[in-house]
Amino acid sequence: MEYAILRSGAAMPMVGLGTWTLRGAEATSVVSAALELGYRHIDTAEAYENQRAIAEGIRASGIPREELFIVSKVWRDHLHYEEVLMAARRTLAELRTDYLDLYLIHWPSATVPLRETLVAMEELRGRGQVRAVGVSNFTPDVLRQALALNVTPIENDQVPYHPHANQEPLRLLCQQEGIVVTAYSPLGRGDLVRNEELRALANERGRTVAQLLLRWLTEKGVVVIPRSTSVAHLRENLDVFGWDLDEEVRRLLDSMGAQAA
Ligand SMILES: NC(=O)c1ccc[n+]([C@@H]2O[C@H](COP(=O)([O-])OP(=O)(O)OC[C@H]3O[C@@H](n4cnc5c(N)ncnc54)[C@H](OP(=O)(O)O)[C@@H]3O)[C@@H](O)[C@H]2O)c1
Repeated sequence: MEYAILRSGAAMPMVGLGTWTLRGAEATSVVSAALELGYRHIDTAEAYENQRAIAEGIRASGIPREELFIVSKVWRDHLHYEEVLMAARRTLAELRTDYLDLYLIHWPSATVPLRETLVAMEELRGRGQVRAVGVSNFTPDVLRQALALNVTPIENDQVPYHPHANQEPLRLLCQQEGIVVTAYSPLGRGDLVRNEELRALANERGRTVAQLLLRWLTEKGVVVIPRSTSVAHLRENLDVFGWDLDEEVRRLLDSMGAQAA
């Protein structure tokens, strides 16, 4: 495993487990299987309604809490000060933990002042309930506004990121500001894996399309959180270190956003 180092010094595993749409017993068994394979970073959110099931998968694995990197997100309806504190309390209880490694504002709000939400996030950080604060779905403009408020260190932005949703301007801004970027839907929700041109290139190289897509991101220093219910896919998605993309593949993936636009 390789790690992205957050501004606070925490090491964030560069491949995490996405859990959107996983619920109940399926979420529990996927988490157990992933932890068994070596995943240590789990991405969830109060909106996914799977935090209790995830906690059960963690418990079953027997892996100590301090070896895990758990990310959750506060939903867009809970962004007033008191609501953030209450949402975090619920999330900690559901996940059966005292702290989150990273807590994100799931979506920016058009109505609640960003400062108010960030003050609550800073309060949680001060209490030790949250080790690092981040955001999600923040464009470069909104992220700049958040940084200008200077309320709490923003250590992560989680955004859709794959060749058809190329986030190069955001990545460069985050690089300048020392913010780690996480790619959600790194496989284009599974659609990109079926791309014929990519399939041919992957076959020639003894890799899979998913691996080329995940390597394209991790080479840029971007953390990835693919979701899978298949043990074979979970294993494959972890095997993206210790080898590099060649120029032909890198150029094609870099250019696909432009082609799609
Ligand atoms: N912050 C946000 O607003 C936000 C929004 C969306 C998602 N997210 C996070 O990002 C995570 C990942 O994004 P996502 O769930 O949208 O989609 P994704 O990870 O891009 O794609 C998931 C799909 O890809 C398939 N897949 C996974 N590995 C594969 C492989 N090696 N080969 C072939 N197919 C493979 C899965 O099917 P199988 O089960 O058959 O493998 C599943 O259908 C989410 O689960 C969630 O944690 C965050």
